[in-house]
Amino acid sequence: MSLGFYVHVPFCRVRCGYCDFNTYTATELGGGASQAAYADQAIAEVRQAAQVLGHRRVDTVFVGGGTPTLLPSADLIRMLHAIDEELGLADDAEVTTEANPDSVTPESLQQLRQGGFTRVSFGMQSAVPHVLATLDRTHDPDRVPKAVAWAREAGFDQVSLDLIYGTPGESVADWRASLEAALACGPDHVSAYSLIVEDGTALARRVRSGELPMPDEDDLADKYLLADELLEAAGLHWYEVSNWARDDASRCEHNRIYWTSGDWWGVGPGAHSHVQGRRWWNVKHPRAYADRILAGSSPELDSESLDEATRRVERILLETRLAEGLSSGVLDDAGRSRVPALVRRGLVTEVDDRLVLTRQGRLLGDAVVRELVS
Ligand SMILES: C[S@@+](CC[C@H](N)C(=O)[O-])C[C@H]1O[C@@H](n2cnc3c(N)ncnc32)[C@H](O)[C@@H]1O
Ligand code: SF4
Repeated sequence: MSLGFYVHVPFCRVRCGYCDFNTYTATELGGGASQAAYADQAIAEVRQAAQVLGHRRVDTVFVGGGTPTLLPSADLIRMLHAIDEELGLADDAEVTTEANPDSVTPESLQQLRQGGFTRVSFGMQSAVPHVLATLDRTHDPDRVPKAVAWAREAGFDQVSLDLIYGTPGESVADWRASLEAALACGPDHVSAYSLIVEDGTALARRVRSGELPMPDEDDLADKYLLADELLEAAGLHWYEVSNWARDDASRCEHNRIYWTSGDWWGVGPGAHSHVQGRRWWNVKHPRAYADRILAGSSPELDSESLDEATRRVERILLETRLAEGLSSGVLDDAGRSRVPALVRRGLVTEVDDRLVLTRQGRLLGDAVVRELVS
């Protein structure tokens, strides 16, 4: 079974109003934990992982956040090398870093490529200034094509762009402009997420106060279909409901480990791990994490062992969203009995013994999953 490593970097320069990720600005940290000391702490957890896992070959590494590229490239490379030295990276390992277009330069991307990173995923979100402003994004839209060009010059064969649709005030024409701008960069991979209004965020407060409208379901559906149409026409094919790739080699193998219930170790504050049916998660705050690591103890906060029934439900939840579909062997009798109606409603097709969402089904993926698990 494949093994992935996720390394969380819990720092951002500013917090985007929609984001509830476990990440901290300098003010939010309040001097409680240091960015400069972070790489060494993460490396200490990699050593702990090696004690538990032994010399198990690592197939994918994904450095995410937060904003990994706020740390010096040398720190990101040191963390990657620690994984290689302590466990051993596969020769063809996929090594991704997320990056904010604001926090990369031609030099930093060159260092990352030379240091062993093979893939970079930029948080583009939108190309339209008023949409970026509503999202509190600080980057100039012109920065994205530049960052992609720098990544290509540095030798990155795999470049991904993250987009968000459904931002209040975004018209369908705005969304089309963002998709076209993304495609003009020639990415190998695009993730397009509908905007989720997360409780506790600045965006949620603005929606609750009536200042901004809640994203509208019909508008989101229209925008999903437009994304699928334009991305497919440009040669990017869906392989998970929110992800499109040029070909098999451009799919994100690391995410596929999550989606196929593989094994991964999550390093860093609040990171989640899953190894052979045991799931655990780390203490959330960078200060609490640093304290545990500096005391030589595990940062694990709590864990659970997944029973057969839970694992089955999780498989349905995740595998139904994949283009290769869900093996119908995973369904119980009640789930199987609902398949003919889902086929009649045009939401799934049966390919050999697998259930695959149709385009219409992808719009109603959550409803399909509810039918299959209950
Ligand atoms: C950790 S960020 C990517 C790297 C970097 N921090 C950035 O934002 O440029 C991961 C992605 O999650 C998505 N995301 C975060 N919060 C979201 C929300 N509330 N709704 C939809 N997508 C969200 C964004 O597309 C973002 O690019
Ligand atoms: S979206 Fe990215 S840059 Fe913005 S706060 Fe979240 S992690 Fe940080």
